[in-house]
Amino acid sequence: MTSRHAVRKERAAQVTESVTEVGAFPMPRDARCPFDPPPGLIQAPPVSRVRIWDGSQPWLITGYQAVRGLLADPRVSADATRAGYPFSTVGLAASVKRGNTFMSMDDPEHARYRRMLTSYFSIKRIDRMRPGIQRMADELVDDMLRSGNSADLVSAFALPLPSMVICELLGVPYAERDEFQRLAQVSISTTSSAEQALAAADEMLALIRDVVELKAARPGPDILTHLVSQRELTRDQVAAIGRVLLLAGHETTANMIALGTAAVLAHPEQAAYLREQDDPERIAGAVEEILRYLTIVHHGRRRVARAEIAVDGTVIKQGEGLILAIESANRDPSAFEGDPDVLDLTRASRHHLAFAFGPHQCLAQALARVELQVAYRTVFRRIETLRLDTALTDLPYKHDMRIYGLHELPVRW
Ligand code: HEM
Repeated sequence: MTSRHAVRKERAAQVTESVTEVGAFPMPRDARCPFDPPPGLIQAPPVSRVRIWDGSQPWLITGYQAVRGLLADPRVSADATRAGYPFSTVGLAASVKRGNTFMSMDDPEHARYRRMLTSYFSIKRIDRMRPGIQRMADELVDDMLRSGNSADLVSAFALPLPSMVICELLGVPYAERDEFQRLAQVSISTTSSAEQALAAADEMLALIRDVVELKAARPGPDILTHLVSQRELTRDQVAAIGRVLLLAGHETTANMIALGTAAVLAHPEQAAYLREQDDPERIAGAVEEILRYLTIVHHGRRRVARAEIAVDGTVIKQGEGLILAIESANRDPSAFEGDPDVLDLTRASRHHLAFAFGPHQCLAQALARVELQVAYRTVFRRIETLRLDTALTDLPYKHDMRIYGLHELPVRW
């Protein structure tokens, strides 16, 4: 680990007068270190050109300060319809032609949509959901314990918990879960073709559009009802927002629960710390560290420069694409005390960028935090002898998805 550190520091110190090509992006992870960002990314200079799937060569930015600064910089655009925007996949490039979502719009348009949703995700409101989330988590663990002494933690716990929560928030029947979970997999896969991604987006929109019609006729205390009642939105626009929330609302948290559990189990002293923890502040701190350490929304945040910007001595021209690598920024030794490649649940890491930063930072971070605090605490407290049932390096990691995680997590107790 120390040598990896040394290499990074050396590269970071390089003056980037002549910019080196670092090759294809995203880079492969090292199978022996499944929780670490790819070695090629950690060793990349602070600013460099990379080649992505469509042959274009956006800028890759890797350091904490630069990434954080650019995420909040008004000269940087998240608008996916702008020329030069570096799409992560062919599927996303195709989908945006059907209609842009607020995730890839700039203010003031982006802020107009976001304002319609913020009250549903306020810390106060989300905190009121905590007892209900705890009940769901306890019931899932009860079922696991009743069923024997082994399980796949993804299908038994990590995926159902956030799926139930987002269904309740949105007003989508939980009975639709098999369908939307399947469609979400196609949408976030890096190997889906343009046709497959478009078909999955259309199917998910149709599914939510049906729920929207239902809400218009029979209103409920949910987000889709609230959006339908906003006269400024068409029902198709409501369905498009619903699709973003449904997708982001279950995939991210599910992967964090599963991968986070695996990472903690792989560090027995950290597992012991979490198991013994009763102090909500310390549990919250542990969750921030797991978020930082894993940064599951990998492959960088995608942006495009709308003016000339100098970054660490390199001039980025208007219209050039940017990949802001929050996963390497979160391992930057200049931003985190001690060795950031170590999982240390007592570290002060709340300033991490796992939820990004600036206008597009995660809308539902308060919800994600509560779900993770409840999930880890319940699993580690209630299943004291929980252990991995497969070697760490043999687990099926999601190298093929825009959100990193695990397809399955065999555990035993
Ligand atoms: C641990 C779980 C989660 C992680 C790590 C995560 C991470 C992120 C990140 C990195 C972004 C920024 C994207 C960008 O800048 O391009 C983001 C945005 C967003 N997230 Fe999350 N997220 C999580 C959970 C959730 C949940 C549960 C929901 C929904 C209920 C959600 C909804 C959103 C939305 C709507 C945005 C777009 C915000 C905007 O563009 O203004 N996320 N999330």
